[in-house]
Order: sequence, then C-alpha cells, then structure tokens
Amino acid sequence: MKQKNLIKKYDKQVTMYEKNRENPNMAARRRKIINSAYGNILEVGIGVGANFSHYNKEKVHVTGVDFSAEMIKSAKKAASRYQIDTELIHADLDDLDFSPESFDCIVSTLTLCSYPDPVNTLNKFNSWCKNDGKILLLEHGLSHNPFWSLTLKAIDPIYSRIAG
Ligand SMILES: C[S@@+](CC[C@H](N)C(=O)[O-])C[C@H]1O[C@@H](n2cnc3c(N)ncnc32)[C@H](O)[C@@H]1O
Repeated sequence: MKQKNLIKKYDKQVTMYEKNRENPNMAARRRKIINSAYGNILEVGIGVGANFSHYNKEKVHVTGVDFSAEMIKSAKKAASRYQIDTELIHADLDDLDFSPESFDCIVSTLTLCSYPDPVNTLNKFNSWCKNDGKILLLEHGLSHNPFWSLTLKAIDPIYSRIAG
C-alpha cells in the first residue's frame, strides 16, 4: 500500500521532472559522474531519463529501471531523442535480482532517499556490479551544519508525505 502511494506520487510528478531535465545547475553535477560511465550500465530509478544527454552514446547500453509507468513512458521518448541504446524495465527495484557482476557500472541519481532500506539496496548494487566496475552515485543527504541538519530532520516527514 505504501509503495502504491509512492508510485502514484511519482506518476504525477513526470511533468515537473521533464521541465527540470535540462536544469543547468544539475546538468554540471550529472555530467561529472555520467561522463565516466561505460559499457553495460544499470540505471536505477531512471525517472524521465535526465542523465541520457550526458552518456557517451557510442559506449553504453543502459538498462533502466523504474516502478512508475509514467516515468518509464517519458524515459522511452528521451532515449529515442538522445539516441541511447536502452532497455527499460517497469518494476520495483526490490523485486529484481540480477546475477552477480552483471554490470560494468551502476548509476543512481537522486534515488537512494526513496528506498525503504537503502543499505540493503547498496549491497545489491555491490553484488550486481563487476569487481572492477563503478558504482556512480549523485545523492543528497543531511547537512553537516547542525541547524540545517535539525531543520531537515523536522521537515522530512512532511516533505516525504507530499513528494515521496
Ligand atoms: C527523485 S526521482 C529521481 C529520478 C532520476 N534518477 C533523476 O536523477 O532525475 C526517483 C525515481 O526513482 C524511482 N523509484 C523510487 N523507488 C523505486 C523503486 N523501489 N523501484 C524502482 N524505481 C523507484 C521513482 O519512480 C523516480 O522516478
């Protein structure tokens, strides 16, 4: 039930994510990590494909996973627009299992805050990624500043109820 509500929230946010796909502030951060992605890539919580424009399209095959059908639809259009060789999987990441060392790189941008047990999810990434591969993360977390850290903790329950 909790996951169903979360999926509905993400389904409704597609237009907002599409508007932000080319956000220049985020683009520099995305480019910095996606530039080094290569080979057979698993991108979790792919959303509307905001990282597609930063992949080296000659060097990648991207398996993208998202549990929001609307996000997957939008990512499909973006993959064709940016000519990225993609396989898109509409599924909850928790229900998927890949063989150990299946991927050269695992990419997660702004998704770890959505998973009920992020440590377990990171352990899965570790298993699915080749030993000499790369796990590329662009995530947000608590501030080191005590005031902001307390404020973030205080608004977190309200924010997650609204945005997921
Ligand atoms: C905050 S958005 C980030 C989207 C994209 N990665 C980006 O950088 O813009 C989180 C994405 O993860 C997806 N997501 C969250 N939990 C998931 C899960 N358990 N399985 C699959 N997708 C999930 C959501 O549907 C959403 O598209």
